[in-house]
Amino acid sequence: MGQTCAACHTAEPDGEWSRISHQRKTPEGWLMSIARMQVMHGLQISDEDRRTLVKYLADRQGLAPSETAGARYALERRLNTMESFESDAFTQTCARCHSGARVALQRRPAPEWEHLVHFHLGQWPTTEYQALGRDRDWLNLALDKMVPELAETYALESDAWTSWQASAKADPVGQWRLAGQIPGRGEMHATLSVSRSGDDLYSLELEGQYADGTALKGAGQAIVYTGYEWRGDLDIDGVAMRQVFALQGDRLSGRMFETEHDEVGFDISGARLGGDQPQLLAVQPGYLKAGSSTELTLVGADLEGDIELGEGVTLEEVLERNAGTLRVRVRAAADATGLREVRVGSSGAVTLSLYDSIARIRVLPEYSVSRIGGNGSSTPRVYGLFDAEAWAAGSDGIANTEDDYRIGIVPARWSVEPFDARAEEDEDTRFAGVIDAVTGRFTPGAAGPNPERRMSTNNAGNLKVVASVEQDGQSLSGSAQMIVTVQRWNNPPIP
Ligand code: HEC
Ligand code: HEC
Repeated sequence: MGQTCAACHTAEPDGEWSRISHQRKTPEGWLMSIARMQVMHGLQISDEDRRTLVKYLADRQGLAPSETAGARYALERRLNTMESFESDAFTQTCARCHSGARVALQRRPAPEWEHLVHFHLGQWPTTEYQALGRDRDWLNLALDKMVPELAETYALESDAWTSWQASAKADPVGQWRLAGQIPGRGEMHATLSVSRSGDDLYSLELEGQYADGTALKGAGQAIVYTGYEWRGDLDIDGVAMRQVFALQGDRLSGRMFETEHDEVGFDISGARLGGDQPQLLAVQPGYLKAGSSTELTLVGADLEGDIELGEGVTLEEVLERNAGTLRVRVRAAADATGLREVRVGSSGAVTLSLYDSIARIRVLPEYSVSRIGGNGSSTPRVYGLFDAEAWAAGSDGIANTEDDYRIGIVPARWSVEPFDARAEEDEDTRFAGVIDAVTGRFTPGAAGPNPERRMSTNNAGNLKVVASVEQDGQSLSGSAQMIVTVQRWNNPPIP
């Protein structure tokens, strides 16, 4: 830091540096700050030195796990997350150009929040003329209202950080069981073997299978920042994938997504094999029709002890049993409906949903954005990916009431329709892209003007994504809105 940053930042007593020593943030946050120094201020630094500095700063001036808890979606690249914050002032002032999570993932004292406000206006004077800026005295509101609020909500010093720094950190080395689900392909489970390859550096080997039995295999490496921020890069069956996990004792959680298409990814939970007690991660599938018999896979670690399935569910046969997988054939009684808690030995509970019939289908995400791309442009297409979530009517037997309960993600047939009259007139379903009827993956159209469209506009569109599910010869459907829009030119690690 003395060599690369000292040209502009001043040394302070106790070995601190102006600005740099008075902030805490995630590894991605530090990377973005330093990248900004390069782009805006002409800092010269090698990629290797930058990596070293990001690690150094994230370890010493990071965030405790509880401090990132509500905002990990941004690190996990869940770009369709609809944010909501208690403070309207915050939403309007600080979460209109970028995510509010970018702010919530930083800690600073008041003077540092104040510098940040000045930096914004100095760098982007148009802040004051844009919507939610020109109708108010933006600068003074930001300084007088937001700075105190930010310094209070996201203070530099916290008990969480002090105690996290003092606590013993989990060792990633060992074998982990992972349970995951990815839109379009469904569930998977895998074993991840982790060995040390350097200081906070690990080699990874992953071997698993999808619910349909197809194998999943890959290898790569991970680095752990701040004692828990696990970032892995793997090649899985020829596809580059990234892991953004939080490591907590014998548990892992987060997302594993394609490096080039971060919209394509698995939700992941993990448990360490050889831990203190049985850990159950998932029951796959997580639902069972009343009166039917089916095969369930219980995924977890150290799965020893009695299998508890809940009232009305009988264990017919254990098909496979080892520390990480329990494959069983079970039967649900004809009148068994509602939610059950499944346990193995002293493990925590995982929900199994028993249903008689599907009452409604919800398409997730309810609102999403996909993007045109390719066609010689510098950014790839951003796909649309969807899940059809089945819900049952609760004890009142009426759908769309408070006692409805979630059955789970079910296979569906997918199609798109114009979202409104405008979209119909512009033939958005013809130009904006194509949805795969089986997987529900939407591939947006090519980037650039399209002479076939009115005024040669691009292939943007406004679509209704429809999932249809067959049940007893009848078709049930649900829908969601998807905007197909232009490329995102600026795509920083934290949106
Ligand atoms: C060429 C000059 C220059 C160099 C070299 C430089 N910085 Fe900066 N830095 C600035 C200026 C100017 C600001 C204030 C404006 C801003 O935030 O962009 C700043 C602000 C910052 C901030 C506060 C940003 C914020 O969000 O409030 C951080 C953190 C930072 N620098 C880190 C670094 C680190 C780490 C290095 C060395 C790897 C470095 N800088 C090297 C010029 C520089
Ligand atoms: C007019 C649009 C706009 C508004 C409004 C805005 N920001 Fe930003 N903000 C930006 C841009 C652009 C960047 C730089 C992104 C980059 O370098 O990748 C940024 C960067 C940041 C960063 C990262 C800086 C670093 O180096 O650590 C933080 C934190 C931040 N903004 C907080 C805020 C807060 C707090 C507010 C409300 C007071 C706010 N922003 C309002 C556009 C905006």
